[in-house]
Amino acid sequence: MSEHAATEHEQLLEEAKLAADQTYSPYSQFPVGAALLTENGRVIRGVNVENISYGLTNCAERSALFSAISQGFAPRSFKAIAVYAPKVPLISPCGACRQVLLELMAPDAVIICQGSDALATKVWTLKELLPGAFDSF
Ligand code: THU
Repeated sequence: MSEHAATEHEQLLEEAKLAADQTYSPYSQFPVGAALLTENGRVIRGVNVENISYGLTNCAERSALFSAISQGFAPRSFKAIAVYAPKVPLISPCGACRQVLLELMAPDAVIICQGSDALATKVWTLKELLPGAFDSF
């Protein structure tokens, strides 16, 4: 990985950490913050938002993506997303989010994941997260 990419990933993780302070997660007590990087260098944050009807919960990754689309950013124009969850050593996106990430992120996007153990930080591609995916594009 280039030095530039590593710095970009660090900065995006910092944004995801700031987002993790804003979650609405009273049921799971499991805060997750996400930060999405657009092709023009803008950052859009997302958090997990829970509900007393548990199944209505929205993960941080989907919150960030849906917020970006709502603000007019083009689908598939997002080059990276950082995800931060302090309650586990390493966070890994759920299956539902993987399918949504595949459809809305740029095809060569990276998913940067970090938990409480910074040394365990992972950078995944969409193909690695969802091999053999259902993808109509
Ligand atoms: N969650 C996320 O926001 N992102 C993930 O990658 C995994 C799980 C949320 C959903 C729920 O609010 C809480 O974490 C516990 O599952």
